[in-house]
Amino acid sequence: MRFDLDGIVRENIKRLTPYSSARSETDGTGCILLDANENSFGSPLGGELHRYPDPYQLEIKKRIAVMNDVGPSEIFIGNGSDEAIDLLFRIFCMPGRDNVIVCPPTYGMYEVSAAINDIEVRRANLTKDFQLDTAAVKEQEDGNTKLAFVCSPNNPTGNCIGREEIFKLAENFRGVVVVDEAYIHFSGTPSLVSEINTFTNLVVLQTFSKAWGLAGLRVGVAFANKELIVYLNKIKPPYNVSRTAQELLLSALTDSSTLDETIRETIDQRERLDQALSELSFVRTVYPSDANFLLVRCEKPVETRKYLLDRNIIVRDRSTVEFCDGCLRVTVGTSEENSSLIDALKDYEESIVH
Ligand SMILES: Cc1ncc(COP(=O)(O)O)c(C=O)c1O
Repeated sequence: MRFDLDGIVRENIKRLTPYSSARSETDGTGCILLDANENSFGSPLGGELHRYPDPYQLEIKKRIAVMNDVGPSEIFIGNGSDEAIDLLFRIFCMPGRDNVIVCPPTYGMYEVSAAINDIEVRRANLTKDFQLDTAAVKEQEDGNTKLAFVCSPNNPTGNCIGREEIFKLAENFRGVVVVDEAYIHFSGTPSLVSEINTFTNLVVLQTFSKAWGLAGLRVGVAFANKELIVYLNKIKPPYNVSRTAQELLLSALTDSSTLDETIRETIDQRERLDQALSELSFVRTVYPSDANFLLVRCEKPVETRKYLLDRNIIVRDRSTVEFCDGCLRVTVGTSEENSSLIDALKDYEESIVH
């Protein structure tokens, strides 16, 4: 099925005249800047912080483009990937009329964004082994279905979703398939970024919050064909990524050795935790993970979490999430943090045996 982008974009978004910010007309290099009502006298922090940042983050996009073998016009940069999720709703989904498909158990923000935008959520649950059920997605789809969210590696289950199943979905889906790759750097599975021009209804989300260790900076990326990126840029707030975030990110991007090292350590520690947790008598399953966390099914999750909390160790209770009964989600920590966790869980094991 040939995807018709303009056929599913909301009419008001197509008609919209976007806000034209002063700095998107000229970057102002070498000029006296009296066009943006900035404070001409500077700021208490000095530097260039009294100036608005580049609204289209071109320097960052050039670097990310090279790193991912795409063009800068195929990249959108957001205030976290959560911003891209929200903007996708606003481009495609008419409040009170349209619907989207999510595949539980999965990342909760898709449903929250849907609720904020007054969009119906339809659920096509993952299969028992946490894979995509394309027939179930098809069953949920109708003429008002605009987005389908696939999280790979999936939060909270940790596994990657099969590429072929995602391709099958993208080929047959009339809306946009959003593949959220927040945790892809921890996985041996290749990213789907390379497929954005094969499937023009594919959006791939990534973030600097996880493997790059920059959650506090709030930068996320959407990769898609350039016609779709034009719409994201059209409706985003003009200066959605701060000057500080852009500058710090640019300098982080020059240092890929820290990234490689963090990924290696995370994977080593993930294996160590997997093994140590599997040996505990009250742990039933440690699910295989391609991410920086483990989903752990245990006998008394609420009690286990409380025991850890009393020792100042916080893990996430996911036991009320569909298909995750009995499950805790444990982020992979540093070697020392994981040692403390393992020791505390061994003490807990002792305490329930006696
Ligand atoms: C699957 C998934 N996508 C997106 C995000 C949010 O990323 P960001 O920090 O870029 O908004 C998270 C955060 O935990 C996540 O788990």
